[in-house]
Amino acid sequence: MADIRNIVILTGAGVSAESGIDTFRDAGGLWEQHRVEDVATPEAFARDPDLVLRFYDMRRAAIQEKQPNPAHEALGRLDREWLGEFLIVTQNVDDLHERGGARRVLHMHGTHLNAWCTACDVRSRWTAPLIDRPPCPGCGERALRPDVVWFGEMPYEMERIYAALRQADLFVSIGTSGAVYPAAGLVRDARDLGVRTLELNLDRSQGSAWFHESRLGPASALVPAWVNEILER
Ligand code: APR
Repeated sequence: MADIRNIVILTGAGVSAESGIDTFRDAGGLWEQHRVEDVATPEAFARDPDLVLRFYDMRRAAIQEKQPNPAHEALGRLDREWLGEFLIVTQNVDDLHERGGARRVLHMHGTHLNAWCTACDVRSRWTAPLIDRPPCPGCGERALRPDVVWFGEMPYEMERIYAALRQADLFVSIGTSGAVYPAAGLVRDARDLGVRTLELNLDRSQGSAWFHESRLGPASALVPAWVNEILER
């Protein structure tokens, strides 16, 4: 472990599961409650914007009342104490990494905190329920959508993610099923770059075979233990 200076961490819904936020593909997950095609694609938004806006208003209200769990707090501690390069690339739209104390966080699938104006492209903090069609702070048009990346849309800041991976000595994947690309391909990109790879997940994921090491268990136990290990190495 002594030769680790730069760390890239990828997180998915599993890191927030113990905060009470539904994952997508576990039993009872979000995609069992709602069809992706109805609420998480540009076509769905064009077809029935009210259904999509209500879904994200509901998601946002559910997320807002949740609290960071020990996994978020351990990653916040690592961000504060780590002297090398550090980046949490999260697929999650919740802000629990930030509320757990992390600062170097990149939301590749957007965040529930922002809305995006389809008229003027301005992104703004999302306060009122979007179903009420609040005016865009930029242009005043009532054309706001959630600033989250839907299926078929490009994730944010992929170049910055790949640049961080090229400098990394360690890539750690936490709480993701490895079902959705390009996030799911990052472990292979890391391996191709000679980066050491570690998975912390409740169950085996679709990417488990690509990791040098996989530790299975709840994030609230595995992540604090790993943070202690890496800080005391
Ligand atoms: N601790 C650790 N891992 C957990 C826990 C837990 N308490 N609970 C669940 N997991 C793991 C599951 O084993 C699973 O591998 O978290 C993963 C959750 O997988 P998904 O529900 O597929 O969520 P995610 O991988 O984040 O989905 C990726 O798909 O729908 C899109 O945009 C959405 O960002 C999301 C993307």
